[in-house]
Amino acid sequence: MAISPDIRTRRLLIKPFNERHLTKRYVGWLNNSELMRYSEQRHKRHTVETCRSYWQSFEETPNYFWVIEDVENGLGHIGNINAHIDINNSLADVGILIGEKEAEKKRYGTEAWIGVCNFLFQEAGIRKLTAGTLSVNLPMLKLMRYVGMIDDGVRKQHHIWEGQEVDIVHKAVFKEVWDRIVNSDKWHRIKNTGSSRLSSRWKAVPAHRLNVFPTNPR
Ligand SMILES: CC(C)(COP(=O)(O)OP(=O)(O)OC[C@H]1O[C@@H](n2cnc3c(N)ncnc32)[C@H](O)[C@@H]1OP(=O)(O)O)[C@@H](O)C(=O)NCCC(=O)NCCS
Repeated sequence: MAISPDIRTRRLLIKPFNERHLTKRYVGWLNNSELMRYSEQRHKRHTVETCRSYWQSFEETPNYFWVIEDVENGLGHIGNINAHIDINNSLADVGILIGEKEAEKKRYGTEAWIGVCNFLFQEAGIRKLTAGTLSVNLPMLKLMRYVGMIDDGVRKQHHIWEGQEVDIVHKAVFKEVWDRIVNSDKWHRIKNTGSSRLSSRWKAVPAHRLNVFPTNPR
């Protein structure tokens, strides 16, 4: 696994996955068919051992696997986020799971995504960050829109979901766009007051609704 520092955002601490995160709590998220209904993980049965193998699959790769911990409300380990790195093309493909019930609908996923995005662009040499999801995964589509991702292609009728053929929607954000955001006065204004918008690309989301910016943008 590639080396990462801990990433701090307003409410969260994002840090490399380790042995003590192999818990029944985590396994329970993966076996929750409602939570995982939009993920390919729904086709598998998970145990601590399958989770250990997944974690170990990151060994000696350039990829990252982090846990997401809530430090504001004391929920602890609420989910995981990973990035698969294509070094030759400076690409990162990011995946996320917010598993803890009490952490739902609080935009923790969006906040974690922004923290990881910031790290990958500012410190890990990434040029383009991508993600893909089923066209029916509304929470993930909202997350991708909130963090300024733009269309990056659609694979038509690619998966079968609850008996229907559905598209896989790909989205992306580029470093140059991210740099413009973090180097703008707006970033600092938004960080401090939460009262502005990010950029023309991010217009869809007023910052007071997002209000999730890293406390230490680099
Ligand atoms: C996708 C995910 C990371 C988003 O996390 P998040 O940013 O914390 O998102 P929230 O739970 O705050 O929800 C975001 C939006 O989706 C809505 N939403 C959440 N669950 C929903 C549901 N079951 N049905 C409809 N809308 C839902 C929320 O109301 C919110 O809408 P709003 O922004 O208009 O208020 C999280 O839902 C998740 O982990 N899902 C399961 C795993 C998964 O599908 N990962 C992606 C695989 S590609």
